[in-house]
Amino acid sequence: MKAFLKNEELFNALNSRYAVKQFEKRDIDTSELEDTVKTILQLTPTSFWLQAYKFINVKDKDTREALKEHSWNQWQITDADMLVVFTVPTDFNKSHIEKHMANMKNIKNMDDEKVNWVTWFMINKIIETWEELWITNFEEWTAKQAYIWLWNLMTSLSILWIDACPLEWLNPKEYNRILKLDEQHLSAKVAIAIWKRHADDKYQDEPKVRFSKEELFIEM
Ligand SMILES: Cc1cc2nc3c(=O)[nH]c(=O)nc-3n(C[C@H](O)[C@H](O)[C@H](O)COP(=O)(O)O)c2cc1C
Repeated sequence: MKAFLKNEELFNALNSRYAVKQFEKRDIDTSELEDTVKTILQLTPTSFWLQAYKFINVKDKDTREALKEHSWNQWQITDADMLVVFTVPTDFNKSHIEKHMANMKNIKNMDDEKVNWVTWFMINKIIETWEELWITNFEEWTAKQAYIWLWNLMTSLSILWIDACPLEWLNPKEYNRILKLDEQHLSAKVAIAIWKRHADDKYQDEPKVRFSKEELFIEM
């Protein structure tokens, strides 16, 4: 079977990944890392291709300090080389779909008739008859996409030997205020601190605490 990695290589990467608690505090040029992170996130799929989201790359030290106060004072917020906050739109509407379709038309060189049909279909399914998709709340639905980026990014980074810590324990209201997200109709959902584990971080030596496969799976 054709594969990019051997199973063993993948499992080694997944096993050596852990939620880093203590990062090495350093002042380095992060442009290459940023480009890697941006490419992984750009390649992450979203439901219905809806890329109506923004990733906030928080570089400013004072802003990071301010965010830390509203993230259980977790050190990862200030100490990691990169901090990315995943946000979702609070005003999801048909203009998001039209923007996506204009981009798709360009990339796929689609004719107007097809573009109009797909645009109609998406507006109809997602906005006008959304109850049929069992979507009860748009912000809740779009928030799920944030966790898909998060996990795709974490797994991909682990394969590249780049450390990270997912950060869910943040106060979205305060993040929205500090990052001025309200005025852009965005809301913070989750964040990630990236690179590089401190040699003294004791969590890296802890065994993975996981239930057995028998416990996790129901065979039918
Ligand atoms: C969605 C999500 C949010 C998390 N938020 C935090 C967080 O805010 N702070 C933290 O230290 N760890 C956080 N974690 C890390 C988990 O506690 C950790 O991944 C889990 O205990 C399993 O350990 P491992 O990642 O070392 O294998 C989060 C993990 C996930 C998946």
